[in-house]
Amino acid sequence: MTTNVGILEVAHYVPDRVLTNKELEQTLDTTDEWIRSRTGIEERRVASDTETTATLATVASRRVLEKAGLSAENLDLIIVATMTPDSVLPAIACRVQAALGAKNAGAFDVSIACSGYAYALSMGCSYVKSGMARRVLVVGADVMTRVMDWTQRGTCVLFGDGAGACIVGPVEEGFGLLAQDLGADGSGALHLQIPAGAGAKPHGSKGLTSQDFTLQMNGREVFRFAVQAMGNAAVAAAEKAGITADEIDLFIPHQANNRIIEAAAKRLGVPTERVFVNVQKYGNTSCASIPLALSEAVEQNRIKPGDTLVLVGFGGGLAWGALVFKWGGFEEKISKMTAA
Ligand code: ACO
Repeated sequence: MTTNVGILEVAHYVPDRVLTNKELEQTLDTTDEWIRSRTGIEERRVASDTETTATLATVASRRVLEKAGLSAENLDLIIVATMTPDSVLPAIACRVQAALGAKNAGAFDVSIACSGYAYALSMGCSYVKSGMARRVLVVGADVMTRVMDWTQRGTCVLFGDGAGACIVGPVEEGFGLLAQDLGADGSGALHLQIPAGAGAKPHGSKGLTSQDFTLQMNGREVFRFAVQAMGNAAVAAAEKAGITADEIDLFIPHQANNRIIEAAAKRLGVPTERVFVNVQKYGNTSCASIPLALSEAVEQNRIKPGDTLVLVGFGGGLAWGALVFKWGGFEEKISKMTAA
């Protein structure tokens, strides 16, 4: 018998430092007006010198464990989605495992750029559904400001730093994950890449510039792809779940650009008041974006038990992923999990 699986708890962490569009005007040929009108972004967070993806991920993880009333030892598995690991080796998930003292947990990273959280959540749910794990910590964390070329105005204004974390576990019948749709189109790989720093172009390779170690993006192509992919993935997942647009209580898309979010919501047929947006405060936090939005939606009482949520991500790869959840059904289960 398969288990019903859902998100039991969610939390987030963002660095204190706020970088506004106005500040960017001081160093870049850009304006607050341009950034707001093209993207909806007003400010973003920037990690301090002592913060890394692992430290952000750890704070979000501690917060979610505390909210769930679980100890780190209760975890069976830790999955971290990131595209900005502290180093190529080891995995961020192992750094988080050590920092938490999660001595009973396996740990690994998922690397699929901004779709990372959708994929990691899908994997976490699969482990629980199959009975191979009962309590999975699924984290999304990125320090995107460390991979920016701060002279490229078309890219560096878009991103920010943050982390979000969920506990995934068994839920009551009728709740939890209803359906998902994951996809990829590797033929568009070059539209979003960090060309150097790994096997193909390691440090010291001939002809490398510092720009090769930063995020290189073909903004117009990514925009075109994103509008299609987010909308289509959300619609496909909703169809698999057997729900109509009217039954979607909250649409939580990857927070990359307001115009992309609006287009995807329109394709899905969900009105603005049922779309969660916080891109204005954080910019695109990559793998952190979906759990950060989900966490704020919960804090703002935008989600109640029984609500149907559609989560959707897209990004480098190119890739995309959407998941449909019926929220709730976890109170009894989580108390049993704590006792176990
Ligand atoms: N300030 C002022 N002008 C700018 C800026 C800026 N920050 N950035 C670009 N411009 C200029 C361009 O140089 C161009 O000038 P030109 O016409 O003289 O050449 C003009 O604005 C228009 O440029 P476009 O690229 O056509 O602007 P567009 O409306 O497409 O917006 C943007 C650009 C915001 C990057 C958009 O294409 C976009 O959002 N793309 C998707 C990006 C995205 O979501 N990436 C994340 C993927 S997730 C992941 O995996 C990391």
